[in-house]
Amino acid sequence: MGARDGPFARTAVSGGANTKEPFMSSHATPIPMMSSACGPLQGQAHVPGDKSISHRSLILGAMCIGETRITGLLEGDDVLDTAKAMRAFGAEVTDHGGGQWSVRGVGVGGFAEPDHVIDCGNSGTGVRLIMGAMATTPITVTFTGDASLNGRPMGRVTDPLALFGTRAVGRAGGRLPMTLVGAAGPVPVRYVVPVPSAQVKSAVLLAGLNAPGQTVVIEKEATRDHTERMLQGFGATLTVEDTDEGRVITLTGQPELQPQDIVVPRDPSSAAFPVCAALIVPGSDVLVPNIGLNPTRAGLFTTLQEMGADLTFENLRSEGGEPVADLRARFSPDLRGITVPADRAASMIDEYPVLSVVAAFAQGVTDMPGVKELRVKESDRIDAMAQGLRAAGVTVDEGPDWWRVTGVGHGHVPGGVTVQSRLDHRIAMAFLVMGMAAQNPVIVDDAAPITTSFPIFEPLMNDLGAQIARISA
Ligand code: S3P
Repeated sequence: MGARDGPFARTAVSGGANTKEPFMSSHATPIPMMSSACGPLQGQAHVPGDKSISHRSLILGAMCIGETRITGLLEGDDVLDTAKAMRAFGAEVTDHGGGQWSVRGVGVGGFAEPDHVIDCGNSGTGVRLIMGAMATTPITVTFTGDASLNGRPMGRVTDPLALFGTRAVGRAGGRLPMTLVGAAGPVPVRYVVPVPSAQVKSAVLLAGLNAPGQTVVIEKEATRDHTERMLQGFGATLTVEDTDEGRVITLTGQPELQPQDIVVPRDPSSAAFPVCAALIVPGSDVLVPNIGLNPTRAGLFTTLQEMGADLTFENLRSEGGEPVADLRARFSPDLRGITVPADRAASMIDEYPVLSVVAAFAQGVTDMPGVKELRVKESDRIDAMAQGLRAAGVTVDEGPDWWRVTGVGHGHVPGGVTVQSRLDHRIAMAFLVMGMAAQNPVIVDDAAPITTSFPIFEPLMNDLGAQIARISA
């Protein structure tokens, strides 16, 4: 059956309002997938390692002298691109199989000049953190990425890096491809991060590693704090103080970082997909073991509980200084819309696409204010989700920094639509989750981007009972 036959008579979603051309896949062969209504989802979902911690493990490992060993590294395209980049800077990065990796680093300030362009693929985290890590070493590096990454703003990182003495030349609007010339005599920096972004904060801290004296980063809203925790773990002197001005992070430059043995926790942002799917598919009962519940990442789970989700944390414990639990999600027939507090946005910024799907199956309105950052992710996520949800029969209102989904309740989401993933893994996965409980199947035009963060998504969801199938383009 073709995409526009039978249940697919609804209009296909067109390109975003703010784009001049139809969205293109950077993959030679797009992988369209169809997700159809399924029976209960049941069993255990062992999701992959945390993407944020995986990038940081490789980068910090490359900035030590000696061998860092990593267990449970996310082997998604984004992280593999960072591994390649670290090799290009002179680190020895070895894949021992089964999620075991090692990095023999070159020390702070020890990066060699790569002899080729650094291609970070789809990864904003990869490129922005690597820019920071090389910015205070006198080498020249050219960065590029896929069509999504080359459309994203880099000025938010190159502006503070310029304060260290780093020079950057890129395309109009601070876009990749872009060449950075690292500072030969870096000076320490005091920087108030103007947007809630862990990538920007982290880029400045990584640059501060090779500057003498103290680099101070102040964030008004707390964002994920993996860089701070891991820098302390690698032996850097770093303090965090909550003040009237915000969260003040002070790093003493030019430390000798000590190699570590790292066990990467499983990614709460990936756990979000089987959890949300279980809440909306009747009869489901899914356990998602060993999920890191760092408070700077766990906002979605609080939000779901406030919406009436049957979601519990079992076996709550502490591992490597971080709270960890097994998440148990069961079908939740009485979900209701809520207002998600704006000050929670940073702790669930990657989870709004799948939350908007859950909101469609709830009764009443879910308001999501304070989410301007969603417009500059792998895609404009408000626009991508709003267009797909509307085409699938759900009312969505939006403004520059807010959006609102009016739920139609369980069993009433029409679906029957083809949506565009726009090179965005989380858009693809969110709509495949919608198809599991909609009245008619949902087709995602290209699910290939899912490999950036959750390469086992399709078999994992199908093992639980989902009906996701690859179809011909
Ligand atoms: C990340 C920070 C967030 C998040 C991204 C991962 C990180 O981006 O969306 O998926 O690992 O630092 P921003 O810094 O742009 O908010």
